[in-house]
Amino acid sequence: MRYDNRYIKVLRMLKEYDGYISGEYISNILGVSRVSVCKYISLLRSKYGYIIDAKPRVGYRLLSIPDRLLPWEIMERLEGKSRMVKDILYYDEVSSTQDIALRLAEQGKHSLLVVAERQLKGKGRLSRRWISPHGGIWFSLIVKPDIHISSVSMLSLASALAVCNAINSNYNLNAKIKWPNDVIINYRKVAGILVDASIEQDEMHYAIIGIGINANVSKDTIEKGISDYARQENDVYYKYGYGLTTLIHELNMRVDRVRLLADTIIWFESIYDMLHHNKAEFIEEVKRHMVLGKVSVVSREERIEGYAIGIDEDDGSLLLNYEGRIRKVIAGDVYIRYSI
Ligand code: BTN
Repeated sequence: MRYDNRYIKVLRMLKEYDGYISGEYISNILGVSRVSVCKYISLLRSKYGYIIDAKPRVGYRLLSIPDRLLPWEIMERLEGKSRMVKDILYYDEVSSTQDIALRLAEQGKHSLLVVAERQLKGKGRLSRRWISPHGGIWFSLIVKPDIHISSVSMLSLASALAVCNAINSNYNLNAKIKWPNDVIINYRKVAGILVDASIEQDEMHYAIIGIGINANVSKDTIEKGISDYARQENDVYYKYGYGLTTLIHELNMRVDRVRLLADTIIWFESIYDMLHHNKAEFIEEVKRHMVLGKVSVVSREERIEGYAIGIDEDDGSLLLNYEGRIRKVIAGDVYIRYSI
């Protein structure tokens, strides 16, 4: 989708020019009045947070772009690089992007990205709450996968790998996958993935890839969100919490959220192609980015201590060396044992 509103066209012109650009020139090129140009400039400033300097008798100059996941900014980065995103739905505040995407997927929509600055009821795995304040990257992508349904669990590994690559290629960090769908930095969770798929008679109608990255949000804010929620729900998991981190905490600086989001999608698409055409290479790539070694795996039934050695090529389950035998773990939470 192209964003063709007049104010976006004004914004594009401001971006193309390094210096000041006169209101008269903008109005001539776009065929609108000077008053309208003024109106678009003030909309860009007040509604969307662009900093635009104005010099009398000289013109306008774009000084900075806001730290927001504005759809035209995301689309600009994806242009010519993505086939899976044709349209973007953007919300400042939403209950859960995953719920919105699910509803739209049921109506037959796909290639649609749902993005929010903040989620009030973000959904995590195993019906957990995902604390999603302003500053994070929260989005859900509706895809129509053409892979076999047995590979559905691979979609979350592919997404986790995409997040790792997007983070590591932009910043000097060593993000890794913690099976099945967490992304961690220095043993602390920085991002989570939730995949909902609709499968009927061996056919996958759609999959919703939900990704949450703790980006420009303080650790304290998320920790407080978790403990408030835990108190409210009297939930043991949240009460004891888990190690978490955020990118701003790791880097001591704000990250470019639009770039990270777009890069995650671009990586996801190329990893998805790898999964489609060369599964063995995909498995190797996941293994290379995964936390291996001594772990405890806790599922509803049991707790097993063993060594994570890789993932199963058929269904993406975790391969664990447990007392000398290889066991396949289909579901569970992995806790890394530090004394490797
Ligand atoms: C997890 O680790 O438990 C998965 C977290 C997934 C969170 C993302 S944020 C965007 C999308 N919308 C949601 O409500 N959840 C996912």
